[in-house]
Amino acid sequence: MAFNIFGGKKEQSQENEPQNNGRMVRPMETGDIEAVLAIIESHDDEDAQEASEEFAESVEGMYVAVDNGRIVGVTGSFTDGEADDIHWLSWTYVAEDQRRQGIGRYLVGGMFDQLQNMGARKVFITTGDYVEDGVDIYAGARAFYENLGASLELKMSHYFSQDEARYIFGLNITGQPEAVPVSIEQNGHLIFDGLHAAPESEDGLFLTWTEYDPETDTDANPKEKLEALLQEARDNKMRFLVAAIPADLSEGAAKGLEAMGFSLIGELQNLYDANISQQHWFLKL
Ligand SMILES: CC(C)(COP(=O)(O)OP(=O)(O)OC[C@H]1O[C@@H](n2cnc3c(N)ncnc32)[C@H](O)[C@@H]1OP(=O)(O)O)[C@@H](O)C(=O)NCCC(=O)NCCS
Repeated sequence: MAFNIFGGKKEQSQENEPQNNGRMVRPMETGDIEAVLAIIESHDDEDAQEASEEFAESVEGMYVAVDNGRIVGVTGSFTDGEADDIHWLSWTYVAEDQRRQGIGRYLVGGMFDQLQNMGARKVFITTGDYVEDGVDIYAGARAFYENLGASLELKMSHYFSQDEARYIFGLNITGQPEAVPVSIEQNGHLIFDGLHAAPESEDGLFLTWTEYDPETDTDANPKEKLEALLQEARDNKMRFLVAAIPADLSEGAAKGLEAMGFSLIGELQNLYDANISQQHWFLKL
C-alpha cells in the first residue's frame, strides 16, 4: 500500500494512488511545521505567515504526504461553526517539484473518505483568483478542486482585496445525490445583532444574527438595529458587509437587507441541513 493511513479506502480510489512504495500519508505533527511552511512559502509568503500562526495553536485535522522521509504535501480540514457534519478544507499544498503526479488527489481524496466515514456530509473549499506577475496563481487549484468533483457554489468579487474574489466550491461526500431544495419552508425569524471580521479579509465584515420572535420580542426593532450596524461598518471604513443566513429564517431578513441595498449573490447548498442552504447577501459600502 503506497499511502498507508488511508489503507481502508475503496477499490476505485486505489487506482489513483501514485506507484511509489516509499510514500505515505500520516497526521501532521508539530515537528513537521517547518517543512510544511517551506512548501506554503514557496507559493505565497502571506499564506505561510497565516498558516504559521494557525499551526502554532494546533495542527489537529492536518495530514502530510511523506516521500522517503521528505514532506511533499499537506492538507487538512476543520468543522463548520454552525453545522458539525460540514467541513472546510484548510491549507492544501503539494511541493512544486512533485505536482501533477496524483499526490494532491490521493491526499485530499483520501481525507474526504476519512471524513465521510466519520459522518461528514459535505466539504466546502475556499480559494481565490490572486494574480501575481500576470499569473493567476490559484487557477491550478481551482482546476484541481473541479477535478475532485467539487462545484463552484459562490463567488464573492472584491473579497480578499479590491482585485481578488473569493470562490467557494462545495463537494457532497455522502455518496448519495445531493438534495435540491425546491421550496423554502420558513421556520422562524432572525435579527442581526453584531459584526465580526470576514475570514481572511482585512476590510470586510459579516453580520451576526440570532433567532427572535416578533410576537413576543416587540422591542427588538430589526430595522433600526441593521441600520446601526451598517453605520458602524461605514464608520470603521469597511469595504463590504456580508449577511450569511439560513434560507429557512430568511424571509423577513431578506426584505430588510434588500431595503438597505444588499444583493443576494448566491447560496451554499444544504449547509445547515439536507434542505437548508446558507444565503449570502452582499453590500459594497
Ligand atoms: C492544487 C495542488 C494541491 C494540486 O496538487 P497535485 O498533486 O499537483 O494534483 P494532482 O496531481 O493530484 O492533480 C489531480 C488532477 O487535478 C487537476 N489539476 C491539478 N493541478 C492542475 C493544474 N495546475 N492545472 C490544471 N489542472 C490541474 C488535473 O485534472 C489533475 O489530473 P491530471 O494530472 O491527470 O490531469 C497543487 O497544484 C498545489 O500545491 N498548488 C499550489 C498551492 C495551491 O494553490 N493550493 C490551494 C490553495 S487554495
